[in-house]
Amino acid sequence: MRRSLIDILDLSVRELDDLIDTASDIMERPFAYAHACEGKKLATLFFEPSTRTRLSFEAAMYELGGHVLSVTGAGGSSVSKGESIADTARTVSCYADIIAMRHPQEGAALVAARGGSIPVINAGDGGHCHPTQTLADMMTIRKEKGAFEDLTVGVCGDLKYGRTVHSLIGAMSRYRGVRFVMISPEELKVPAYVTEALDQKQIPYRETASLEEAMPALDILYMTRVQRERFDDPALYEALKDTYILTPEKMTLAKEDMIVLHPLPRVNEISVAVDTDERACYFKQVLYGKYMRMALILKLLEEPAVEKPPVQAPKGFKCVNPRCISRTEQELEPAFIRSGSKDAPVWRCLYCEAEAARDEEGPRA
Ligand code: NCD
Repeated sequence: MRRSLIDILDLSVRELDDLIDTASDIMERPFAYAHACEGKKLATLFFEPSTRTRLSFEAAMYELGGHVLSVTGAGGSSVSKGESIADTARTVSCYADIIAMRHPQEGAALVAARGGSIPVINAGDGGHCHPTQTLADMMTIRKEKGAFEDLTVGVCGDLKYGRTVHSLIGAMSRYRGVRFVMISPEELKVPAYVTEALDQKQIPYRETASLEEAMPALDILYMTRVQRERFDDPALYEALKDTYILTPEKMTLAKEDMIVLHPLPRVNEISVAVDTDERACYFKQVLYGKYMRMALILKLLEEPAVEKPPVQAPKGFKCVNPRCISRTEQELEPAFIRSGSKDAPVWRCLYCEAEAARDEEGPRA
Protein backbone atom coordinates (compact mmCIF):
# COMPACT_ATOMS: atom_id res chain seq x y z
CA MET A 1 0.00 0.00 0.00
CA ARG A 2 1.05 3.62 -0.42
CA ARG A 3 1.88 5.84 2.51
CA SER A 4 -1.27 7.66 3.66
CA LEU A 5 -2.28 10.19 6.30
CA ILE A 6 -4.99 8.62 8.42
CA ASP A 7 -3.98 9.79 11.90
CA ILE A 8 -1.88 12.87 12.65
CA LEU A 9 0.60 10.60 14.48
CA ASP A 10 1.38 8.95 11.13
CA LEU A 11 3.67 11.96 10.68
CA SER A 12 6.76 12.34 12.83
CA VAL A 13 7.50 15.65 14.57
CA ARG A 14 10.24 16.20 11.99
CA GLU A 15 7.90 15.53 9.08
CA LEU A 16 5.33 17.92 10.49
CA ASP A 17 7.98 20.64 10.76
CA ASP A 18 9.11 19.95 7.20
CA LEU A 19 5.52 20.25 5.96
CA ILE A 20 5.17 23.64 7.64
CA ASP A 21 8.47 24.73 6.04
CA THR A 22 7.27 23.59 2.62
CA ALA A 23 3.88 25.26 3.11
CA SER A 24 5.60 28.53 4.09
CA ASP A 25 7.81 28.31 1.02
CA ILE A 26 4.77 27.70 -1.22
CA MET A 27 3.15 30.78 0.31
CA GLU A 28 6.19 32.88 -0.51
CA ARG A 29 6.99 31.43 -3.93
CA PRO A 30 3.76 29.99 -5.37
CA PHE A 31 5.11 30.13 -8.95
CA ALA A 32 7.82 27.61 -8.02
CA TYR A 33 5.15 25.00 -7.32
CA ALA A 34 2.60 25.90 -9.99
CA HIS A 35 3.48 22.89 -12.16
CA ALA A 36 4.59 20.46 -9.46
CA CYS A 37 1.60 18.13 -9.91
CA GLU A 38 1.10 18.48 -13.63
CA GLY A 39 -0.56 15.34 -15.01
CA LYS A 40 -1.63 14.16 -11.53
CA LYS A 41 -5.19 13.72 -10.31
CA LEU A 42 -6.65 14.12 -6.85
CA ALA A 43 -9.97 12.38 -6.14
CA THR A 44 -11.99 14.08 -3.43
CA LEU A 45 -14.51 11.59 -2.04
CA PHE A 46 -16.71 13.48 0.41
CA PHE A 47 -19.54 11.43 1.85
CA GLU A 48 -20.33 14.14 4.44
CA PRO A 49 -20.96 17.89 4.06
CA SER A 50 -17.92 20.13 3.71
CA THR A 51 -17.11 23.60 2.43
CA ARG A 52 -13.61 24.41 3.56
CA THR A 53 -11.92 21.07 3.58
CA ARG A 54 -13.03 19.91 0.14
CA LEU A 55 -12.49 23.27 -1.53
CA SER A 56 -9.16 23.61 0.24
CA PHE A 57 -8.00 20.25 -1.16
CA GLU A 58 -9.28 21.10 -4.61
CA ALA A 59 -7.73 24.58 -4.62
CA ALA A 60 -4.49 23.01 -3.37
CA MET A 61 -4.36 20.55 -6.27
CA TYR A 62 -5.23 23.21 -8.86
CA GLU A 63 -2.53 25.51 -7.51
CA LEU A 64 -0.04 22.67 -7.90
CA GLY A 65 -1.04 22.36 -11.56
CA GLY A 66 -2.93 19.08 -11.05
CA HIS A 67 -6.48 17.97 -11.75
CA VAL A 68 -9.39 17.07 -9.51
CA LEU A 69 -12.07 14.36 -9.71
CA SER A 70 -14.85 14.82 -7.21
CA VAL A 71 -17.62 12.83 -5.54
CA THR A 72 -19.86 14.61 -3.05
CA GLY A 73 -22.49 12.92 -0.91
CA ALA A 74 -22.99 9.18 -0.74
CA GLY A 75 -26.10 9.58 -2.92
CA GLY A 76 -23.92 10.48 -5.90
CA SER A 77 -21.76 7.37 -5.82
CA SER A 78 -22.01 3.58 -5.74
CA VAL A 79 -21.65 3.74 -1.95
CA SER A 80 -25.43 4.32 -2.03
CA LYS A 81 -25.74 0.98 -3.87
CA GLY A 82 -23.96 -0.71 -1.00
CA GLU A 83 -20.41 -0.72 -2.36
CA SER A 84 -17.76 -1.24 0.29
CA ILE A 85 -15.15 1.40 1.07
CA ALA A 86 -12.36 -0.98 0.08
CA ASP A 87 -13.92 -1.58 -3.36
CA THR A 88 -14.52 2.15 -3.83
CA ALA A 89 -10.87 2.89 -3.03
CA ARG A 90 -9.65 0.12 -5.32
CA THR A 91 -11.78 1.50 -8.13
CA VAL A 92 -10.70 5.10 -7.63
CA SER A 93 -7.06 3.91 -7.60
CA CYS A 94 -7.54 3.14 -11.33
CA TYR A 95 -8.46 6.76 -12.10
CA ALA A 96 -6.56 9.01 -9.70
CA ASP A 97 -3.13 9.37 -8.08
CA ILE A 98 -4.26 10.34 -4.58
CA ILE A 99 -7.51 10.37 -2.59
CA ALA A 100 -8.83 12.82 0.01
CA MET A 101 -11.76 11.19 1.75
CA ARG A 102 -14.37 12.31 4.29
CA HIS A 103 -16.81 9.74 5.60
CA PRO A 104 -19.31 9.63 8.48
CA GLN A 105 -18.04 6.28 9.74
CA GLU A 106 -15.04 6.10 12.04
CA GLY A 107 -12.11 4.23 10.51
CA ALA A 108 -13.34 4.59 6.91
CA ALA A 109 -10.16 6.28 5.68
CA LEU A 110 -8.01 3.50 7.10
CA VAL A 111 -10.08 0.90 5.28
CA ALA A 112 -9.69 2.92 2.06
CA ALA A 113 -5.92 3.15 2.50
CA ARG A 114 -5.65 -0.60 3.02
CA GLY A 115 -8.01 -1.35 0.14
CA GLY A 116 -6.66 0.95 -2.56
CA SER A 117 -3.23 1.31 -4.13
CA ILE A 118 -2.81 5.11 -3.99
CA PRO A 119 -2.23 7.41 -0.98
CA VAL A 120 -5.33 8.24 1.05
CA ILE A 121 -5.71 11.41 3.09
CA ASN A 122 -8.25 11.28 5.89
CA ALA A 123 -10.35 14.44 5.57
CA GLY A 124 -12.46 13.47 8.60
CA ASP A 125 -13.78 10.05 9.65
CA GLY A 126 -16.93 10.49 11.73
CA GLY A 127 -16.22 11.85 15.19
CA HIS A 128 -12.81 10.17 15.21
CA CYS A 129 -10.08 12.35 13.70
CA HIS A 130 -9.25 15.02 11.16
CA PRO A 131 -5.49 15.21 10.67
CA THR A 132 -5.39 17.82 7.88
CA GLN A 133 -7.31 20.30 10.02
CA THR A 134 -4.54 19.74 12.55
CA LEU A 135 -1.97 20.59 9.88
CA ALA A 136 -3.74 23.94 9.47
CA ASP A 137 -3.88 24.39 13.25
CA MET A 138 -0.19 23.56 13.71
CA MET A 139 0.96 25.96 11.02
CA THR A 140 -1.13 28.70 12.65
CA ILE A 141 0.34 27.93 16.08
CA ARG A 142 3.91 27.97 14.77
CA LYS A 143 3.37 31.24 12.92
CA GLU A 144 1.64 32.91 15.85
CA LYS A 145 3.52 31.49 18.85
CA GLY A 146 6.88 30.72 17.22
CA ALA A 147 7.15 27.21 18.69
CA PHE A 148 5.05 24.41 20.12
CA GLU A 149 6.75 23.98 23.49
CA ASP A 150 5.55 25.27 26.89
CA LEU A 151 2.02 26.12 25.86
CA THR A 152 -1.22 25.75 27.78
CA VAL A 153 -3.82 24.63 25.29
CA GLY A 154 -7.51 25.02 26.10
CA VAL A 155 -9.94 23.01 23.99
CA CYS A 156 -13.54 24.03 24.44
CA GLY A 157 -16.96 22.76 23.40
CA ASP A 158 -17.79 19.39 21.90
CA LEU A 159 -14.75 17.37 22.88
CA LYS A 160 -16.59 14.09 22.47
CA TYR A 161 -17.50 14.31 18.78
CA GLY A 162 -15.13 17.12 17.77
CA ARG A 163 -12.67 15.15 15.67
CA THR A 164 -10.39 18.15 15.16
CA VAL A 165 -9.77 18.27 18.92
CA HIS A 166 -8.75 14.60 19.05
CA SER A 167 -6.16 15.13 16.33
CA LEU A 168 -4.89 18.41 17.77
CA ILE A 169 -4.34 16.89 21.21
CA GLY A 170 -2.41 14.03 19.60
CA ALA A 171 -0.18 16.43 17.68
CA MET A 172 0.48 18.87 20.54
CA SER A 173 1.11 16.12 23.09
CA ARG A 174 4.50 15.47 21.50
CA TYR A 175 6.06 18.75 22.66
CA ARG A 176 7.80 19.51 25.94
CA GLY A 177 5.91 21.59 28.48
CA VAL A 178 2.49 21.35 26.82
CA ARG A 179 -0.53 21.19 29.15
CA PHE A 180 -4.17 20.81 28.23
CA VAL A 181 -7.30 22.29 29.78
CA MET A 182 -10.39 20.52 28.48
CA ILE A 183 -13.46 22.68 28.78
CA SER A 184 -16.76 20.93 28.15
CA PRO A 185 -20.04 19.91 29.73
CA GLU A 186 -20.00 16.48 31.35
CA GLU A 187 -21.85 14.95 28.36
CA LEU A 188 -19.25 16.10 25.84
CA LYS A 189 -15.99 15.11 27.52
CA VAL A 190 -13.08 13.89 25.44
CA PRO A 191 -13.14 10.13 24.62
CA ALA A 192 -11.21 7.75 26.85
CA TYR A 193 -8.64 6.81 24.22
CA VAL A 194 -7.49 10.44 24.10
CA THR A 195 -6.98 10.81 27.86
CA GLU A 196 -5.49 7.31 28.05
CA ALA A 197 -2.75 8.40 25.62
CA LEU A 198 -2.07 11.52 27.73
CA ASP A 199 -1.92 9.43 30.91
CA GLN A 200 0.52 7.03 29.29
CA LYS A 201 2.84 9.88 28.36
CA GLN A 202 2.28 11.62 31.71
CA ILE A 203 1.14 14.81 30.03
CA PRO A 204 -0.68 17.17 32.40
CA TYR A 205 -4.31 17.96 31.69
CA ARG A 206 -7.36 18.95 33.64
CA GLU A 207 -11.06 18.98 32.85
CA THR A 208 -13.43 21.81 33.72
CA ALA A 209 -16.88 23.00 32.72
CA SER A 210 -16.04 26.70 33.09
CA LEU A 211 -14.54 28.69 30.22
CA GLU A 212 -14.21 31.79 32.41
CA GLU A 213 -12.28 29.89 35.03
CA ALA A 214 -9.93 28.33 32.47
CA MET A 215 -9.34 31.42 30.37
CA PRO A 216 -6.56 33.34 32.27
CA ALA A 217 -4.05 30.49 32.05
CA LEU A 218 -4.42 29.75 28.34
CA ASP A 219 -1.95 30.43 25.53
CA ILE A 220 -4.28 28.91 22.96
CA LEU A 221 -8.06 28.66 23.08
CA TYR A 222 -9.42 26.15 20.55
CA MET A 223 -13.18 26.62 20.25
CA THR A 224 -15.41 24.02 18.59
CA ARG A 225 -18.97 23.69 17.34
CA VAL A 226 -21.33 21.28 19.08
CA GLN A 227 -21.59 18.55 16.40
CA ARG A 228 -25.33 18.33 15.92
CA GLU A 229 -25.09 15.63 13.24
CA ARG A 230 -23.53 13.14 15.67
CA PHE A 231 -26.19 13.32 18.39
CA ASP A 232 -28.64 10.43 18.72
CA ASP A 233 -30.87 12.61 20.92
CA PRO A 234 -31.87 15.99 19.38
CA ALA A 235 -33.10 17.23 22.78
CA LEU A 236 -29.63 16.74 24.22
CA TYR A 237 -28.14 18.74 21.36
CA GLU A 238 -30.62 21.56 22.02
CA ALA A 239 -29.74 21.54 25.70
CA LEU A 240 -25.98 21.72 25.05
CA LYS A 241 -25.58 23.76 21.89
CA ASP A 242 -25.17 27.15 23.56
CA THR A 243 -23.07 26.05 26.50
CA TYR A 244 -20.12 28.23 25.45
CA ILE A 245 -20.22 31.50 23.58
CA LEU A 246 -16.97 33.42 23.38
CA THR A 247 -17.62 37.16 23.62
CA PRO A 248 -15.41 40.30 23.82
CA GLU A 249 -16.19 40.43 27.57
CA LYS A 250 -14.82 36.93 28.09
CA MET A 251 -11.77 37.83 25.99
CA THR A 252 -10.85 40.42 28.65
CA LEU A 253 -10.06 37.49 30.98
CA ALA A 254 -7.44 36.13 28.56
CA LYS A 255 -3.73 36.81 28.19
CA GLU A 256 -2.85 39.56 25.77
CA ASP A 257 -1.09 37.10 23.51
CA MET A 258 -3.52 34.20 23.77
CA ILE A 259 -4.71 33.08 20.33
CA VAL A 260 -8.21 31.90 19.48
CA LEU A 261 -8.50 29.04 16.99
CA HIS A 262 -11.59 27.37 15.55
CA PRO A 263 -11.73 24.81 12.71
CA LEU A 264 -14.93 26.47 11.40
CA PRO A 265 -17.79 26.43 10.55
CA ARG A 266 -18.88 28.39 13.61
CA VAL A 267 -22.52 28.33 14.57
CA ASN A 268 -22.62 30.81 17.42
CA GLU A 269 -19.87 29.68 19.79
CA ILE A 270 -17.75 32.72 18.90
CA SER A 271 -19.49 36.06 18.75
CA VAL A 272 -18.80 37.92 15.48
CA ALA A 273 -17.61 40.83 17.64
CA VAL A 274 -14.53 38.75 18.55
CA ASP A 275 -13.41 38.62 14.89
CA THR A 276 -11.78 42.05 15.06
CA ASP A 277 -9.75 41.09 18.14
CA GLU A 278 -6.13 40.61 17.03
CA ARG A 279 -6.04 37.34 18.90
CA ALA A 280 -8.70 35.79 16.64
CA CYS A 281 -6.81 33.57 14.19
CA TYR A 282 -9.51 31.32 12.73
CA PHE A 283 -9.52 32.81 9.26
CA LYS A 284 -5.73 32.56 9.12
CA GLN A 285 -6.18 28.84 9.82
CA VAL A 286 -8.29 28.54 6.67
CA LEU A 287 -5.57 30.06 4.52
CA TYR A 288 -2.75 28.05 6.08
CA GLY A 289 -4.83 24.90 5.63
CA LYS A 290 -4.63 25.21 1.86
CA TYR A 291 -0.84 25.55 1.88
CA MET A 292 -0.43 22.64 4.29
CA ARG A 293 -2.61 20.46 2.03
CA MET A 294 -0.44 21.46 -0.93
CA ALA A 295 2.67 20.42 1.01
CA LEU A 296 1.02 17.16 2.06
CA ILE A 297 -0.10 16.23 -1.47
CA LEU A 298 3.43 16.84 -2.73
CA LYS A 299 4.90 14.70 0.03
CA LEU A 300 2.55 11.75 -0.31
CA LEU A 301 2.83 11.62 -4.10
CA GLU A 302 6.61 11.24 -3.69
CA GLU A 303 6.54 8.60 -0.94
CA PRO A 304 7.27 5.03 -2.06
CA ALA A 305 4.93 2.11 -1.40
CA VAL A 306 5.09 0.61 2.09
CA GLU A 307 4.39 -2.88 3.38
CA LYS A 308 0.77 -3.23 4.50
CA PRO A 309 1.07 -3.48 8.30
CA PRO A 310 -0.36 -6.77 9.60
CA VAL A 311 -3.38 -6.38 11.90
CA GLN A 312 -3.73 -7.95 15.31
CA ALA A 313 -6.93 -9.93 15.52
CA PRO A 314 -7.16 -11.50 18.98
CA LYS A 315 -10.17 -13.81 19.24
CA GLY A 316 -12.96 -13.10 21.71
CA PHE A 317 -13.33 -9.36 21.14
CA LYS A 318 -15.62 -7.23 19.06
CA CYS A 319 -16.10 -3.54 18.34
CA VAL A 320 -19.43 -2.31 19.69
CA ASN A 321 -19.18 1.28 18.43
CA PRO A 322 -22.22 1.71 16.15
CA ARG A 323 -20.36 4.39 14.16
CA CYS A 324 -17.37 2.20 13.36
CA ILE A 325 -16.71 1.17 9.76
CA SER A 326 -16.05 -2.38 10.99
CA ARG A 327 -19.78 -2.75 11.66
CA THR A 328 -20.76 -2.41 8.00
CA GLU A 329 -17.76 -3.00 5.75
CA GLN A 330 -18.02 -6.27 3.82
CA GLU A 331 -15.92 -9.07 5.35
CA LEU A 332 -13.62 -6.67 7.17
CA GLU A 333 -11.52 -8.65 9.61
CA PRO A 334 -11.92 -7.22 13.15
CA ALA A 335 -8.63 -5.81 14.36
CA PHE A 336 -7.51 -4.41 17.69
CA ILE A 337 -4.66 -2.54 19.29
CA ARG A 338 -3.45 -3.04 22.83
CA SER A 339 -3.63 0.07 24.96
CA GLY A 340 -4.05 1.04 28.63
CA SER A 341 -1.42 0.35 31.26
CA LYS A 342 0.68 -2.79 31.70
CA ASP A 343 -1.43 -3.93 34.66
CA ALA A 344 -4.77 -2.94 33.14
CA PRO A 345 -4.50 -3.52 29.39
CA VAL A 346 -7.36 -2.45 27.19
CA TRP A 347 -8.00 -3.65 23.64
CA ARG A 348 -9.18 -0.94 21.29
CA CYS A 349 -10.62 -1.27 17.81
CA LEU A 350 -7.92 -0.54 15.23
CA TYR A 351 -10.39 1.44 13.10
CA CYS A 352 -12.23 3.68 15.58
CA GLU A 353 -10.16 3.28 18.82
CA ALA A 354 -13.28 2.56 20.90
CA GLU A 355 -12.74 0.03 23.67
CA ALA A 356 -13.46 -3.49 22.40
CA ALA A 357 -16.01 -5.63 24.20
CA ARG A 358 -15.65 -9.31 24.92
CA ASP A 359 -17.98 -11.29 22.70
CA GLU A 360 -20.37 -13.96 24.01
CA GLU A 361 -17.96 -16.79 23.43
CA GLY A 362 -15.56 -15.15 25.86
CA PRO A 363 -11.99 -14.00 25.39
CA ARG A 364 -9.37 -16.34 24.07
CA ALA A 365 -6.54 -13.84 23.72
C1 NCD B 1 -14.54 20.60 11.13
C2 NCD B 1 -14.94 19.17 10.79
O1 NCD B 1 -15.45 18.90 9.69
O2 NCD B 1 -14.71 18.33 11.65
N1 NCD B 1 -14.60 21.44 10.02
C3 NCD B 1 -13.54 21.51 9.17
O3 NCD B 1 -13.14 20.55 8.57
N2 NCD B 1 -12.91 22.68 9.06
C4 NCD B 1 -15.25 21.12 12.33
C5 NCD B 1 -16.75 21.10 12.35
O4 NCD B 1 -17.41 20.68 11.41
O5 NCD B 1 -17.27 21.56 13.37
